[in-house]
Amino acid sequence: MSALSELYQEIALCQQCEIAKYRIKVVPGEGMEDADLMFIGEAPGWHEDQQGRPFVGPAGLFLDELLASINLKREQVYIANVIKCRPQGNRDPLPVEILNCRQWLERQIELISPKMIVTLGRYSMAMFFPGKSISKIHGTDQRRDNVIYYAMYHPAAALHQRSLRQAIEEDMLKIPSLLAQAESITEAKQQPQQLSMF
Ligand code: URA
Repeated sequence: MSALSELYQEIALCQQCEIAKYRIKVVPGEGMEDADLMFIGEAPGWHEDQQGRPFVGPAGLFLDELLASINLKREQVYIANVIKCRPQGNRDPLPVEILNCRQWLERQIELISPKMIVTLGRYSMAMFFPGKSISKIHGTDQRRDNVIYYAMYHPAAALHQRSLRQAIEEDMLKIPSLLAQAESITEAKQQPQQLSMF
């Protein structure tokens, strides 16, 4: 069994938060184990909770479209969320839930060791760009320890607001050239990598 599959088993046993009691399925994440590009959303919604897979509802269909716009399929990237259980009624994640779940995301990042991490929405952005505002930094990147961090709006928000939709579509189109730059600065795949949450 791969290290990532073992991690999924550990995540499935997690009962640290109250919301674990109400989940149908835990949603650890999915995608290529050695993906260069990792997307981090917020939390599972109703569809994700039913299927145990990230971004499979309307926001996920839009994410698939955005990926297609840069000639990628979801199988070629890795998709995770800040928290792995659905908050009831699709409320925002609580700080304690984000804190409890952080260990899982950190271990996913360590195992996958992506060259580029794309944050989708405010909650994911706040982990890597603390104190920043998404309206100011979407479509911009920061580099730490050979990893490019890139902030985007959440596809669910962009689905319903025309101006955000245009912004997310444009921001997506910048990813291939950033990824190409990441490839040129990375020999780090072969080396143990320090996790870069800041
Ligand atoms: N929104 C998210 O942030 N994550 C999902 O998996 C689905 C919707």
